[in-house]
Amino acid sequence: QTIYLSDYKVPPYLVDHVDLRFELFENGARVHSALVVRRNPEAGAGDIPLELDGDSLVLESVGLDGVTLNEAAYENRGDKLIIASVPERFELTVVTWLEPQNNTRLEGLYKSSGMFCTQCEAEGFRCITYFPDRPDVMSRFRTRVEADKQAYPVLLSNGNDVDRGDLDDGRHFVTWEDPFPKPCYLFALVAGDLVEKRDTFTTCSGRDIDLRMYVEPRNSEKCEHAMDSLKRSMRWDEEVYGREYDLDIFMIVAVDDFNMGAMENKGLNIFNSSCVLASQDTATDLAFQRIEAIVAHEYFHNWSGNRVTCRDWFQLSLKEGFTVFRDSQFSSDMGSPTVKRIEDVALLRTAQFAEDGGPMAHPIRPASYMEISNFYTLTIYEKGAEVVRMIHTLLGPELFRKGSDLYFERHDGQAVTTDDFVKAMEDASGRDLSQFRLWYEQAGTPVLNVSDEFDAEQGVYRLTIKQAIPDTPGQTDKKPQHIPFALGLLGGKRESLPLRLQAGEQDAPTERVLELTGETEVFEFHGLDECPVPSLLRQFSAPVRVRYPWTREQLLFLMSHDPDGFNRWDAGERLAVDVIQSLVGTPKDAPVDSRLVTAYRHLVSDSSLDQALVAKMLQLPSEAYLIELAESADAPAIHDARERVLKHLAIALRDDLIACYRRNVEAGAYQVTPDQIARRSLRNTALAWLLQINDEEGRELALRQFREADNMTDRIGALRALVNSDYEADRAQVLEQFYERFKDDPQVVEQWFSVQAASDRAGQLPQIHQLLEHEAFDWKNPNKVRSVVGAFAGQNLAAFHSPDGSGYDFLADQVCRLDDSNPQIAARLVTPLTRWRRFAPAYSQRMKAALERIRDKAGLSRDVYEVVHKSLAG
Ligand code: ARG
Ligand code: ZN
Repeated sequence: QTIYLSDYKVPPYLVDHVDLRFELFENGARVHSALVVRRNPEAGAGDIPLELDGDSLVLESVGLDGVTLNEAAYENRGDKLIIASVPERFELTVVTWLEPQNNTRLEGLYKSSGMFCTQCEAEGFRCITYFPDRPDVMSRFRTRVEADKQAYPVLLSNGNDVDRGDLDDGRHFVTWEDPFPKPCYLFALVAGDLVEKRDTFTTCSGRDIDLRMYVEPRNSEKCEHAMDSLKRSMRWDEEVYGREYDLDIFMIVAVDDFNMGAMENKGLNIFNSSCVLASQDTATDLAFQRIEAIVAHEYFHNWSGNRVTCRDWFQLSLKEGFTVFRDSQFSSDMGSPTVKRIEDVALLRTAQFAEDGGPMAHPIRPASYMEISNFYTLTIYEKGAEVVRMIHTLLGPELFRKGSDLYFERHDGQAVTTDDFVKAMEDASGRDLSQFRLWYEQAGTPVLNVSDEFDAEQGVYRLTIKQAIPDTPGQTDKKPQHIPFALGLLGGKRESLPLRLQAGEQDAPTERVLELTGETEVFEFHGLDECPVPSLLRQFSAPVRVRYPWTREQLLFLMSHDPDGFNRWDAGERLAVDVIQSLVGTPKDAPVDSRLVTAYRHLVSDSSLDQALVAKMLQLPSEAYLIELAESADAPAIHDARERVLKHLAIALRDDLIACYRRNVEAGAYQVTPDQIARRSLRNTALAWLLQINDEEGRELALRQFREADNMTDRIGALRALVNSDYEADRAQVLEQFYERFKDDPQVVEQWFSVQAASDRAGQLPQIHQLLEHEAFDWKNPNKVRSVVGAFAGQNLAAFHSPDGSGYDFLADQVCRLDDSNPQIAARLVTPLTRWRRFAPAYSQRMKAALERIRDKAGLSRDVYEVVHKSLAG
């Protein structure tokens, strides 16, 4: 059953107030709800039945204005509770019974390591009680939580705690009141035996906010980084967006079993433990940065998401795209902007472009869906953020801020659409964004074909840019989009040339943002005395594919001279891609372009370069990205070509790598700063490369680093290098030692699993099966599933795409197994198979067969059904 945006109707009934009472027990939970309901004046006249959503609920009783209804007075269809005729205004009371302890879907109310917690977005609230579960119904919530006092001393919900006390039988209660009307997807409840970490934040207007983190006692030393990140986020949102926090308390809870990263419930953010808990000893630099970004993301939602929310789930990118944009600006301000941009773009080009070119392609504002959980995608989040970023680029920072101020002011307390967002930006800036709106409606990654010519006589350089947007399922013949295209031109003496759009133009800038609107655009630059090297789409100013016939000479030139750091990295990546692609399927001894070696030698040995950028430039393009770029991919052949280039570089640069390693072994205390992160990244890259060529000195450095590291980045860097080497005895030994030391820490065990599952040495199928049998593996924990099954299918690509199809069969088995217990996670795991059309026939046939096997499973969930059927269609 498909739901269409075009069918949107305003809710016929509004719920002004929700009063909830939770009785939590070991064998289940009873939920008493009292709703103050009124007819929506905008819904038109005539009798409309009251329809409430429900899912997996046991209904105990229904009452209307204090009178218990008998079963004939309502219809209980399971997923809907329908009362044919109700007054204009009434109070509805509903009692439901649920079994959180048996809830493996992790939607609604469930138990995780002994504590009760909730996840309601998108449609989990209906697993708690019957309710109009849609974001345009906004209510004030009052929540009383009752549980055994000893087992659950901490009882939390949204807002402020207004009452608490003891009950009979060793039970107690706490009552919470949230003064802000909110959609039910922002409701949250937590009950557990948790330690509390406190801090305070004084807002710009001088209010003191109580900041509290709740974690299991064993994690009490892992909260500091998240707390600091929270305070930085609160300050940043005041300074950059003028957004002040609105409640007196802000709470963060860590739970081990969680389908996604985190959730922005009003005043009570709930996090996947792996996205919030960190210590020097257990978390990598990457984890520290990820935590900072996710804490910020959830906090920023308080305005972009909670105060102003979505009218319906087709508008999801309204809050997600904007909030990802905000958190990326924040991370960029906290660390290295160039590195942050490179990371965002790499993710977009590798994974979002693949999604946009596959069977699940959808616009950032989709027109239809079957299961909304499947639409928490890279397109909604990351491309959505790129679209907001383009508005920022087109308007400039001041007008963009005027636009966001207007948006928040105009729509505070409302549930609105992406169109309302664009309209606020238009109204505040006076710019016409009507063509720009196509970014919200059309799916697919635009392709820009760029060609150029130089008229030496006139001194004119002419750039022609043609845009084409590929067909996607259900969408053909697309209209050209409005694309901001930043560029610069470099002269032969490495200087940035003035960009004169007219002959004789004075004080022309050396960088411009061109605006593409037509299918073909021609730009002329005047007053040049040589043919320049173009630096195109600087900062990746739009989420598009740029095709231009770069020569390797040009790329080498840009790689070392482009003043735009992002484009330097991009030139290096294009060069490496070109070299690797040219070697796919060639004999083992085919020569590697020596210019690549020279360029990389320069990167490894010149310590005057920006080391953070160098650390990024030294990463060869990932296998996933190379596969995304291939027309008819042969994953093992791509893996092979990439590995040959890597080994060639490592052999040629062996001494430089040792020197680089030694230069970057630092003294001084561990800190998560851009400089130290870059040093650790560089030395771990050097180690990884040295171990690829069985270098004895490299091996000793790795073993020593493994033993002596005072932080997880270096420890796991050494572990990974050894695991991916031919030193089999060392591999077994370090894996064993690592596990023994960290086996009580789930976040570290997850890293330990994924290092193996992602490794072509340690992660072949028989070993993957052993990991699934391991004592620390747990099918009910999504992080564990992701760290083994997800890492294997998503990162260990040569093994997953084994020519005999065993990797595909394996994944199909695991998807079927998870489909009954956790359909959301099962549907996510299918993703690698959905790309089947992009692979060479021998692979794609087997991938398709695996999909068909999943399709034929009995009782397939709606989540997996949608992904599999769309993948096989057409
Ligand atoms: N709103 C959350 C975030 O991005 C994600 C929640 C997704 N939940 C889900 N069931 N798909 O911060
Ligand atoms: Zn979000």
